[in-house]
Amino acid sequence: MIPKSKRAVVQAVALLSTASWAFAQSPEMRPPERHAWADASLSPDARADMVIERMTLDEKIQLVHGMGWESIFDPPQAGPGVRALQPWAFIPGIPRLGVPDLQISDSVLGVTGSGGKSRYATAFPSAEAEASSWDLALAAETGSTIATEMRAHGLNMSLGSGVNLTREPRTGRTFEYKGEDPILVGLMVREELKAARAQGLIVGIKHYAVNDQDGGRMFVNSVLDERSMRESDLLPFEIALRNSDIGAVMCSYNKINGIYACENQHLLSDLLKKEFGFKGFVISDWGATHSTVPAALAGLDMEMPGDDFFGTALKYAVERGDIPLARLNDMVHRILRTAFASGVVDSPPQPYVVDVFRGFEAAQKVEEKGAVLLKNTDRQLPLKASTIRSIAVIGGHADAGVLSGGGSSQVSPAGDNPVPPPPITEQNILGPSESVYHRSVPLKGIAAKVPGASVKFDAGIDIASAVALARASQLAIVFAVQNASEGEDLPNLSLSDNQDALIEAVATANPHTIVVLETGGPVTMPWIGKVSAVLEAWFPGIRGSEAIANILFGDVNPSGKLPLTFPRSEADLPHPKLNRQPARAAARSVATASEPSRFVVGDVPARPGFLTNTTPFDAVYDEGLRVGYKWYDAEKKQPLFPFGFGLSYTTYAYSGLKAEPGKGLTVTFDVKNTGDRAGEETAQVYLTLPASAGEPPRRLVGWSKVALGPGEQKSVKVDVEPLFLSVFRVDRDAWEIVTGDYKVWAGPSSRELPLSATVQLSGK
Ligand code: BGC
Repeated sequence: MIPKSKRAVVQAVALLSTASWAFAQSPEMRPPERHAWADASLSPDARADMVIERMTLDEKIQLVHGMGWESIFDPPQAGPGVRALQPWAFIPGIPRLGVPDLQISDSVLGVTGSGGKSRYATAFPSAEAEASSWDLALAAETGSTIATEMRAHGLNMSLGSGVNLTREPRTGRTFEYKGEDPILVGLMVREELKAARAQGLIVGIKHYAVNDQDGGRMFVNSVLDERSMRESDLLPFEIALRNSDIGAVMCSYNKINGIYACENQHLLSDLLKKEFGFKGFVISDWGATHSTVPAALAGLDMEMPGDDFFGTALKYAVERGDIPLARLNDMVHRILRTAFASGVVDSPPQPYVVDVFRGFEAAQKVEEKGAVLLKNTDRQLPLKASTIRSIAVIGGHADAGVLSGGGSSQVSPAGDNPVPPPPITEQNILGPSESVYHRSVPLKGIAAKVPGASVKFDAGIDIASAVALARASQLAIVFAVQNASEGEDLPNLSLSDNQDALIEAVATANPHTIVVLETGGPVTMPWIGKVSAVLEAWFPGIRGSEAIANILFGDVNPSGKLPLTFPRSEADLPHPKLNRQPARAAARSVATASEPSRFVVGDVPARPGFLTNTTPFDAVYDEGLRVGYKWYDAEKKQPLFPFGFGLSYTTYAYSGLKAEPGKGLTVTFDVKNTGDRAGEETAQVYLTLPASAGEPPRRLVGWSKVALGPGEQKSVKVDVEPLFLSVFRVDRDAWEIVTGDYKVWAGPSSRELPLSATVQLSGK
């Protein structure tokens, strides 16, 4: 939310709000023992209705908007706002009725909203690292750890996980999302949020919907047909939301097929609330509300962070009858029933010291299970410490820390950013986008594994000097970094700052060159044929260096598998150039002239070389259903590394596939560890639908993560939910299983599927 250049202001705000912490605990904010709705045996809906009966119109309005953009720069000095940990993410409660404040925070990769840097929160690796584990238990552990830290900070509402699909890998927020497959994303997020919710927190999910490019996100109209939307971009929401207790859905900045997400009746009311059965409230992304009447009638329940449309304007609209009181009551009901259901009313968070040690362990585990070994020629890895005399560690600020992604998900680095931002120049008066590193130092992690050896560092800026060190060393480990941030897209998939040339030169100088990538998403690798090993570490989090060293030296056997495709070049993408087309005249907003769209605070300022856009444009996703690997399969393009791919230090063999139709489909087969060390394999199941279904060649329908000792074989069972077998029939407005022959595939990646069987399914 906050442009990095405004961090100083934000820190000042944060200090003030931390000082006012005591107010949040004042007696009138304690559970409402004296009220009839204090009875926790009543249903959340009944309790919410009892409160609403006692509320004034002003109190209702107070609950459906934030305190204003101004509070970012001018924090409240009096009134309820002084209780806020972050005034720009705060809804004041109603003490007389025992309605608690909503103290809200981002928490995609850890808690960001503790009121500034004065309180510690664990910085987790990128969401892609978690997704690369394909490990549902790990997703739950991550959700639960972050939620526990939220409560320790005194926060009671998390804006939750991002589930946008990687349709466009250059998107600056790829690192906040979980890849390109709707079923993988949906199932991982479902586990993560269920576990977070179990800690007694209001949890959210975002960005609804089709917010698949971030540069110009406030000006983009995403154009996508209904079937593709249901089977791709909306499916992870549907999977995570059905029968769940998710409390909030954040609508996104963009328009979808001409209508802003936050005033889109079809998305908010018809689908989300009716069809997916969502009982919580819709909260706007920060500045994504564009109208009062259309937004309220379409289904938006809360404007954030201000009151431009849901403050006085909403009150007047209700008084005038433009918005029925029943609709306002519904908004308030959704917010209150969510608060009761989540437990934040009956058991408000009690601040305490964050369990730093649990956080360290959890973050390290995500990185160890989520880093993906992409290449390992001649078993270069794992390194054998006893045979190593000298290592050249090159580039990527590996002597200082590990990179993190920018924007609202960025957890404050403990002990501040060890890599000072470049100076402000005349060309970029607002300051360049800052790359923030966490102080987990790869150089130290590596040196600790080889106490007797010489481990030297070269910054990699002067290629000749890096080459000289590489030549004088037994092996070279190059750390390559690619900064990425909310609010912008990458101009291309190449490593920036001459890093391709650096790797090429080092690999030419030393045949034992290992590349560790710290990137927000896929990058192209013109040097791939020259290096002996590549480890994709993503943005590795607060214990990144320990995890990376453990993998490089074999204390951990890598098991991560890519949640998205690495293309060979941009030319192979559905949109070789970023998907930006002149806005079509047909695109329209339902905002009226008297309720103009307003962008009070703009996007993150552009920095040289990065794209920005302030005029409306269309992103026409005419690849439709062919998202990610489905595109490469359909177009018969060979990716650099396919979806689902990842190496291990052991090998696996697959045999004996059986597929039995039942409620859905039950797939069984055997996986054997054919190597000499223990490992974990993600055995994947894909499906080819009958030709009449008109689907891309294959879709992932399930997987099993199986731990196997050396030589061990296990039988694996994957139960495929009926929804995952279905196609969305727009003409019938329904999911349907097409009758016909289905080919079931199993194997270690989307492009290596040694087992297959045919099964007949009936739609009846
Ligand atoms: C981001 C959201 C975030 C919000 C609050 C927005 O700019 O798009 O993901 O939750 O700010 O920080």
